[in-house]
Amino acid sequence: MSIYILGIESSCDDTSASVIANQQILSNVIASQKVHSEFGGVIPELASRAHQHNIIPVIDTALKRAKINKKQLNAIAYTNGPGLLGSLLVGSSFAKAMALALNIPLIEVDHLQGHVLSVFLEKDETKKEKPQFPFLCLTVSGGHTLLLKVHDYFDMQVVGKTIDDAAGEAFDKAAKILGLPYPGGPVIDKLASVGNPLKFQFSMANLPNFDFSFSGLKTSFLYFVRDQLKNDKQFIEKNLADLAASIQFTIIQSLTKKMKLLLEQDKCKDIVLAGGVSANSGLRVAMKNLAKEYQRNIFLPDLDLTTDNAAMIAISGYFKYLKQEYSSFKVTPYSSSKI
Ligand code: KG4
Ligand code: ZN
Repeated sequence: MSIYILGIESSCDDTSASVIANQQILSNVIASQKVHSEFGGVIPELASRAHQHNIIPVIDTALKRAKINKKQLNAIAYTNGPGLLGSLLVGSSFAKAMALALNIPLIEVDHLQGHVLSVFLEKDETKKEKPQFPFLCLTVSGGHTLLLKVHDYFDMQVVGKTIDDAAGEAFDKAAKILGLPYPGGPVIDKLASVGNPLKFQFSMANLPNFDFSFSGLKTSFLYFVRDQLKNDKQFIEKNLADLAASIQFTIIQSLTKKMKLLLEQDKCKDIVLAGGVSANSGLRVAMKNLAKEYQRNIFLPDLDLTTDNAAMIAISGYFKYLKQEYSSFKVTPYSSSKI
């Protein structure tokens, strides 16, 4: 028998709704907000307004694409945090109202756990291989950078984290310095594919444990570009691909250095990469190479499941539904990570 879960995601600048049947995605609709592009980052007030505008059509489309009636839903899972409070409130209020109207369980989901659990989603009926617990997971997004040891679906131990900026933020800020649009990660990734990653060197943080730091890199990149522009106003245009490739290379090195350190100490057989930055082609290759070097299995999410989407919220809701871990209608969204 199928369990149908509707997932709702509205933590940042994507309004998304997805219907899954057990672990299989029936629909995953994402309305990305273009309005932030010209500002070089997400404007919270504009984001929550756009969510209000998008949420009904996005949920309606998700149900239609899944070809199911809302009365068939077993539960509604939604992102309760971390994220922008105004944005989270739109998704959470809608989820509560809909669960109440349909008289079905409401399930709150942590956005970061959602990214990690996206690896358990299936696109069709062929059962794909899944990581076995415990596994190691590098979760890299626009707001977070975490090295996790995942003992069970909702038992995630933080081994390392960023002490300042997230990896995605480093990509986005570097792109902004180069005059590229937001979000900068995908643009840098594309440019980097034709650039020389060793052309320019930038200083990398050297923390002794498993923690990361990206704010120094951003400053070193900013000062370098600013100094070069003093001598040559066309420096960015002339070196764009090499600058993109070099900064991407440095960010990947910072991430894989800590993953490598962990692999030296931890014998977990499986490694997972999650979060928006896991779409990065260079990082995917680097992680595959590391897995090969240390003889581990690597699980990379499909590209359309790397950045924010509601299918990852629905699958997290599914695992909570199996344990009957339902939420009270009194729970309120939170902005900072709880893991
Ligand atoms: O997980 P996500 O969609 O949202 C957050 O939870 O933050 O991640 C968004 C981040 C942005 O910083 C974006 O620039 C980055 O993921 N990103 C990438 C790529 N695609 C998205 N960074 C590097 N390379 C990419 N291909
Ligand atoms: Zn995310």
